[in-house]
Amino acid sequence: MKPSFSASAAIAATFALSVSAANSIPTCGPNQLCPSSSPCCSQYGQCGVGAYCLGGCDPRYSYDLQSCVAAPTCKSGDFELNSLDDVKPNTQYLGDSSTANWVSSGTPVVYNNESVLLTMAPNTVGTLLMSTHYVWYGEVSATFTTSQGAGVVTAFIMMSDVHDEIDFEFVGVDMTHAQSNYYFQGITDYNNGANLSVSDTRQNTHTYTFNWQPDSLTWAIDGNVMRTLNRNQTYNSTTQQYHYPQSPSRIMLSLWPAGLASNGQGTVDWSGGLVNWDSQYMQNGYYYAVFSDVKVNCYNPPSGFSNNHGSAAYYYTSGYGTNDTVATGNNNTKLASFQATGDNPNYDPNASASASASKTSASATMSATPETVPGISGGGAQGNAGAEDGSSGSSGSSGSSGSSVSSAGASQSTGSSGGFSQGGGSTGTSQAPKVVAGSAVALLGFFVACLLL
Ligand SMILES: *[C@@H]1O[C@H](CO)[C@@H](O)[C@H](O)[C@H]1NC(C)=O
Ligand SMILES: *[C@@H]1O[C@H](CO)[C@@H](O)[C@H](O)[C@H]1NC(C)=O
Ligand SMILES: *[C@@H]1O[C@H](CO)[C@@H](O)[C@H](O)[C@H]1NC(C)=O
Ligand SMILES: *[C@@H]1O[C@H](CO)[C@@H](O)[C@H](O)[C@H]1NC(C)=O
Ligand SMILES: *[C@@H]1O[C@H](CO)[C@@H](O)[C@H](O)[C@H]1NC(C)=O
Ligand SMILES: *[C@@H]1O[C@H](CO)[C@@H](O)[C@H](O)[C@H]1NC(C)=O
Ligand SMILES: *[C@@H]1O[C@H](CO)[C@@H](O)[C@H](O)[C@H]1NC(C)=O
Repeated sequence: MKPSFSASAAIAATFALSVSAANSIPTCGPNQLCPSSSPCCSQYGQCGVGAYCLGGCDPRYSYDLQSCVAAPTCKSGDFELNSLDDVKPNTQYLGDSSTANWVSSGTPVVYNNESVLLTMAPNTVGTLLMSTHYVWYGEVSATFTTSQGAGVVTAFIMMSDVHDEIDFEFVGVDMTHAQSNYYFQGITDYNNGANLSVSDTRQNTHTYTFNWQPDSLTWAIDGNVMRTLNRNQTYNSTTQQYHYPQSPSRIMLSLWPAGLASNGQGTVDWSGGLVNWDSQYMQNGYYYAVFSDVKVNCYNPPSGFSNNHGSAAYYYTSGYGTNDTVATGNNNTKLASFQATGDNPNYDPNASASASASKTSASATMSATPETVPGISGGGAQGNAGAEDGSSGSSGSSGSSGSSVSSAGASQSTGSSGGFSQGGGSTGTSQAPKVVAGSAVALLGFFVACLLL
């Protein structure tokens, strides 16, 4: 059996490193919907409020179809990643996509005003940038160089809230292949992957492109189409569905440690072994991948699309999550606070206590002290932040998340794990440092210079 990995599943398991076994965050998955007090099922299979109800909120397993806030529709453009002006930490973003095109977790760092480094320092789970706008078919390109080293994975993927996925992944022990892959609703299929040849992905900047249409999907590198998938090749006779990516998806750029002892052996092997946290490939104390540009050319909704009720947002009309359950509308996409949900978007306990309309759900929400930012130990879990520093990899409960990493399907059942720990201590939630250097300074020199600061 050929190993095959869903970036979402593996990232989920890695990021879902349990903060504390004692932490009873409600979990969600097939036949297990979130409770009304924390109605939103995150991409990591845990229930919460606030950011849990934004990007990644899974309508299939959330309390009801209004729990997840509707998703901002596709926005065409050339998104140059040369500053953090367009990036908001996930601890600050509340769904207003006019304020930022990207949401981050971890520590993105500006390099030379011309690119953004996704960094991964020891004992962190790296950095993830997620687009605030979704794409429901389009051409999406990213220009970047990868990181290098055993266990270190660079990824450029598209992922929907029901876990459809389109991937370019790069394992740090193979600089001459881009691993292409796709998934339908997170279902593992070991035949979906294909390796595409490319010259040294760390030394050479390449542009990687998905051309995602309702009936066909291509993966291209530097403008050359390397792989084509037609929808009609993906029919699954068991489910009698096309297992083709077909739901609105976010763009995700990431650098993350697949090679952690707490991850499944299959994941570790796939990524080339355990991460060496004292590697020649680290500079300035971290691994890094250099992203300079993302271009998006949105396509119109598919012909025959009849759920068009507006152009601002995507939402689902049922929990099936297939293309025919996607609708567009002029729905609100914002929350008033990190305690609000799609069911109660205006709830803000900090606003005057006169918010009488919200009182009933307010008390329910508050008594449960629900999690507010997936992957961050939020809400009542603050006290566990110490687990972020080094111990997360060896905590007993994180082993359970590791075991689920070997199959994409299992990502829906990372039930026992708590919120993942992101970043080394405070870096996860603080504004990433803006680092600048003279333009003539080579990258290496730049990092050495920074070491001296
Ligand atoms: C979006 O708006 C439509 C009405 O246009 C409504 O039926 C639907 O429930 C809303 N969905 C969400 C998630 O806001
Ligand atoms: C791609 O190459 C990697 C080695 O870098 C290998 O582990 C994997 O099985 C290959 N995938 C496919 C689909 O051939
Ligand atoms: C499959 O889809 C492709 C692209 O839409 C089309 O060119 C091809 O004719 C289809 N093949 C079959 C067997 O329907
Ligand atoms: C078809 O779907 C089922 C259920 O999701 C899955 O277990 C199976 O592996 C799929 N078959 C193929 C050939 O992809
Ligand atoms: C959904 O996909 C099917 C093919 O499985 C296609 O016939 C139909 O037109 C699509 N509908 C929408 C709204 O995209
Ligand atoms: C209420 O305000 C405090 C202090 O400004 C802040 O820490 C907290 O996150 C706010 N609560 C919500 C739900 O936004
Ligand atoms: C980066 O831009 C800032 C503000 O635009 C400027 O002050 C700084 O000198 C620039 N740094 C480099 C290395 O160009």
